[in-house]
Amino acid sequence: MTTDNLSARQHDDHTSKRKADHIRINLEEDVQSHAFTLFDDLHFEHQALPEFNLDQIETSQTLFSKPLKHPFLISSMTGGTDKAWEINQKLAVAAQNYGLAMGLGSQRAAIENPALEYSFKIRNAAPDILLFANLGAIQLNYGFTIEHCQKAVDMIEADALILHLNPLQEALQPEGNTRFEGLLLKIEHICRTLAVPVIVKEVGWGISGKTAAKLIDAGVSAIDVSGAGGTSWAKVEMYRAKTKTDADVASAFSDWGIPTVESIRQIKQVGNAIPVFASGGIRHGVEAAKAIALGACLAGMAGPFLKAVNESEQALDAICQKIIKELRIAMFAAGAANIHELHNTPLYHW
Ligand code: FNR
Repeated sequence: MTTDNLSARQHDDHTSKRKADHIRINLEEDVQSHAFTLFDDLHFEHQALPEFNLDQIETSQTLFSKPLKHPFLISSMTGGTDKAWEINQKLAVAAQNYGLAMGLGSQRAAIENPALEYSFKIRNAAPDILLFANLGAIQLNYGFTIEHCQKAVDMIEADALILHLNPLQEALQPEGNTRFEGLLLKIEHICRTLAVPVIVKEVGWGISGKTAAKLIDAGVSAIDVSGAGGTSWAKVEMYRAKTKTDADVASAFSDWGIPTVESIRQIKQVGNAIPVFASGGIRHGVEAAKAIALGACLAGMAGPFLKAVNESEQALDAICQKIIKELRIAMFAAGAANIHELHNTPLYHW
């Protein structure tokens, strides 16, 4: 084996270990942020007389030319290992059965090592879903180009590419990539040249109105806020830390971030130029309904789907049925018969 091969192999082993650590820590440890999403502060005005039937409620919509039965997104999580392959297949079946959108985890490992591509390929299991490819935007500052982005999209026959922004996660990782200088211009180049829409998301600390304005100017087609109040990558990195100092540093950020509600609000204030996805700490269909009333078109969840898929296919079915039922009943009791009406339903601070 050449030195190059050896270091590539070590890099792959390292990436696979990191991915396995992420799944294990998310399943075994309490990685819930100490921040609040702020959904609990918002309330629908109860409608005692909805004037339509529960079974008449319509939750479908079309996004990026794909029909969705329900406004839910299985947020980007994993790939690159056998276990990740299994998780992705099961999540894809659920997304197909319930008409949800789905994102795959970062495909960087498979771009660098095509032997890992299999773990991301889910189109056979989910031929009709709105499917998002995923790469860390920061990779554009470390050698990734439009070709790598196109490859990620082609690899999984995706409808759009998600570029995730995660400066804090990178800073807290021992192996983190922290050269963020000049990244916006590179994102803009991808938005202007890639054949499919580009979506930018955070990983649990939110996107401010100011940052959203820059991203919209750069040509992104949607923003997923992934705000604070749900899975905390500071806590994940705290559990991964090799030294007490690194664990303490990560722990200091366990309540960091823009709450999901605040992030959606700030971005909607910038204008209605692009679709906004809500995620970060959404744990049931009533919160999803609130997110849609704030102007989001999709409600994404990662942690809860991971726990359910790890438990069993029945548990995954159960969570899909539960969030759909909660959303429909919230719409009924809030007097919104469809997604358009839900967008126009006010929320109150009581
Ligand atoms: C993630 N998340 C994530 N995001 C991303 O853009 N690319 C990725 O590869 C991953 N990987 C990943 C792995 C695991 C195990 C989890 C739980 C999460 C972040 C995820 O998409 C989401 O933005 C946050 O987890 C916040 O949502 P929840 O978990 O609070 O619903």
